Amino acid sequence: MKKTLFASASALVLGTAASAQVVGFSQIGSESGWRAAETTVTNQQAEERGIDLQFSDAQQKQENQIAAVRSFIAQGVDAILLAPVVATGWDAVLEEAKEAEIPVVLLDRMVDSDPSLYLTAVGSDLVHEGEVAGQFLVDQVGDEPCRVVELQGTTGSSPAIDRATGFRNAIEGHDNIEIVQSQTGDFTRAQGKTVMEAFLQAENGGADICALYAHNDDMAVGAIQAIKEAGLKPGEDVTIVSIDGVPDLFQAMAAGEANATVELTPNMAGPAFDALQAYWDNGTEPPKFIQTESRLYTQSDDPQGEYDRRKDLGY
Ligand code: AHR
Repeated sequence: MKKTLFASASALVLGTAASAQVVGFSQIGSESGWRAAETTVTNQQAEERGIDLQFSDAQQKQENQIAAVRSFIAQGVDAILLAPVVATGWDAVLEEAKEAEIPVVLLDRMVDSDPSLYLTAVGSDLVHEGEVAGQFLVDQVGDEPCRVVELQGTTGSSPAIDRATGFRNAIEGHDNIEIVQSQTGDFTRAQGKTVMEAFLQAENGGADICALYAHNDDMAVGAIQAIKEAGLKPGEDVTIVSIDGVPDLFQAMAAGEANATVELTPNMAGPAFDALQAYWDNGTEPPKFIQTESRLYTQSDDPQGEYDRRKDLGY
């Protein structure tokens, strides 16, 4: 809050005006439709609250994120939002933010650092997401043998680690379901397609593949293209389950080319700004983890309507 002189119609009046809180946002990049939606929503949420958001795109590089956080600290921002590309290597810069008394809020991905180094983290239960995807497949295939290929997210990122774990938890004990290929597609559509092409080649042109589990929708969309080009029907010959709930995946479900997605809300900033406001106003410490919902959508959940709804929201 800073003292200011402002002019009224009749006189100059001494009053107080709230200056906008400045928040630095170190975003990973724009690797996926979900990431782009998160950036859009974060900007919308900041604008609605009159927050001055300083945006920095790290182009998928941790060193760029560390540099951005250091520059936010040097500027003396009121808070920092950090979507950490990988889980390790954050201790030093988080210590620096803590020393400068700048609260850091993690968005959508976790870090291995001590929780005392950040104010809170907003995200989903990433292991649970993998379990929901795995359980969908278990229910879908019943006792039939099923050879699964897996497109993993960015190596070393918390969603790649946890979504792999969750899926394995769900299929454990179902010996008819086997993961036969697993490789990273770095959460991108282009790499999802390239890696899926290699999987198809390795698995008898795709004839031996029963299902694809992709750690995000963009890789699934790229893989769908590869499956079609191999002369197979995605969604029928190959069951496809992924995570995010982006419009393009709903479109694929509406066309019968994908089977299920586990929604991850792109609105991480809303709960983050709420927590920060309470902290700024009266020092209220939020819980260390603010969990967002994860919900399974299948072809029976009006995929065209869900696509339209997300498009209306500007995703
Ligand atoms: O951290 C969330 C993941 O990052 C999303 O599932 C994926 O699309 C994004 O790149």
